[in-house]
Amino acid sequence: MDGVTLIEHPLIAHKLTIMRKKQTPSSLFRSLLREISLLMGYEVTRHLPLQNIEIETPITTMSAPRLAGRKMCIFSILRAGEGLAQGLLDLIPSARVGHVGLYRDPKDLHAVEYYFKAPPHLDERFCLVVDPMLATGNSAIAALRRIKKAGATRISFLCLLAAPEGIAALKEAHPDIHIYTTAIDEKLNDHSYIVPGLGDAGDRIFGTI
Ligand code: URA
Repeated sequence: MDGVTLIEHPLIAHKLTIMRKKQTPSSLFRSLLREISLLMGYEVTRHLPLQNIEIETPITTMSAPRLAGRKMCIFSILRAGEGLAQGLLDLIPSARVGHVGLYRDPKDLHAVEYYFKAPPHLDERFCLVVDPMLATGNSAIAALRRIKKAGATRISFLCLLAAPEGIAALKEAHPDIHIYTTAIDEKLNDHSYIVPGLGDAGDRIFGTI
């Protein structure tokens, strides 16, 4: 699918199956999400630019690659995004972290911002916006709009599970944003939950079920 990378790997598929099971406790759910985000991070950061620097090994000097430019920024969409951000930080400890907090207005269901914090120089950073579930796409669309308004230009979106409806909505609202996911499920149900899905990701991460 254009603009979408489905990250397929036997380890990810196996871990995701355990996460989907309703009997899986929060502690295991959290650690599997962390492990999967680390594996996804490997794929998502594949294109990061490198620059050569002169270093000295115990044997000789050499020109060796290191990441170029400003540190990337992981944007966690609160609260479930925290579950993905932690694993990505294990992989990229020097990454900066931004947060976007949104809630749904009960009257007209539009996304209302209650928190936004970002590092400076967003225009010079690769920004990775993370939320485990891309369901209707409403919060991802609003978060991406806010992050662009703050100056970011190089942005990708990473989720664990996506619904076809969410992908379509996000692509329509932000055709420039590449989406990474490990699975595209069947559909949304009447309550906007992903089917078959894994339930409410935030509740399962934080044990608030
Ligand atoms: N958010 C979730 O946590 N789960 C869904 O299935 C949809 C949105």
